[in-house]
Amino acid sequence: DSTVAVIVVAAGSGTRLGRPEPKAFVPLGDDTVLGVALDAVLGMSDAPYLVVVAPDERVEEARAIVAARAGGASVAFDVVAGGETRQESVSRGIGALPHVIETVLVHDAARPLTPSIVFDEVAAAVRARGHGVVPGLPVIDTIKRVDARGRIVATVDRSELAAMQTPQGFPRSALEHAYSRAHGEHTDDAALVESVGMPIDIVPGDARAFKITVPADLHRAEQLVAERAD
Ligand code: CTP
Ligand code: MG
Repeated sequence: DSTVAVIVVAAGSGTRLGRPEPKAFVPLGDDTVLGVALDAVLGMSDAPYLVVVAPDERVEEARAIVAARAGGASVAFDVVAGGETRQESVSRGIGALPHVIETVLVHDAARPLTPSIVFDEVAAAVRARGHGVVPGLPVIDTIKRVDARGRIVATVDRSELAAMQTPQGFPRSALEHAYSRAHGEHTDDAALVESVGMPIDIVPGDARAFKITVPADLHRAEQLVAERAD
């Protein structure tokens, strides 16, 4: 669908992963984290417009990685440099959207194994509902509220909680409005859109959309990629 864009944010350094290269450029299987993430996006039932946000000094390298696959799939794309924070990187991605785009999905490159169907479902739900839609999973662990001394204050009702994933989808106008109005830093796009009072729905996420944050996550991703190749 030529009115849907996916912004893949890949400009982080991956401090917690502790690799020399930025997280999106770390090898995964016979590919990179970014390459695997792009294959998931390009597996959507309708090809979107693709915006990849890369570290300043890796824009050309990212362009080559994107061109190698999007070229073959004849998908239109752009690669832009990111900023200091995820929020700034998303903002730069929004700045690269062509006029025709009406629906925007924002996705972490650090969630490379997210199934393509999740992108399709989020995009369809945004269009059907006319507002933000984000994938979430039930919280498995028991969650406690604790005070500054480390004493438990209360057990939080898990049925009221959901763990957020990406791709997070929004009507373009809502996302642009939120990014132009929001103050301060927000940990995800849903939080930023919420902060300006706009509604967002949760749709079922997928365990495979986990984020590679620490070395154990990369190990898990390597295993899943190896199983997929069998
Ligand atoms: N991201 C980005 N620009 C930034 C920071 C993060 O584009 N300035 C992207 C990352 O590339 C990643 C996603 O946002 O795909 C989620 O961020 P996170 O997992 O925190 O990645 P990093 O910030 O790279 O890792 P760390 O926080 O451990 O340094
Ligand atoms: Mg980070």
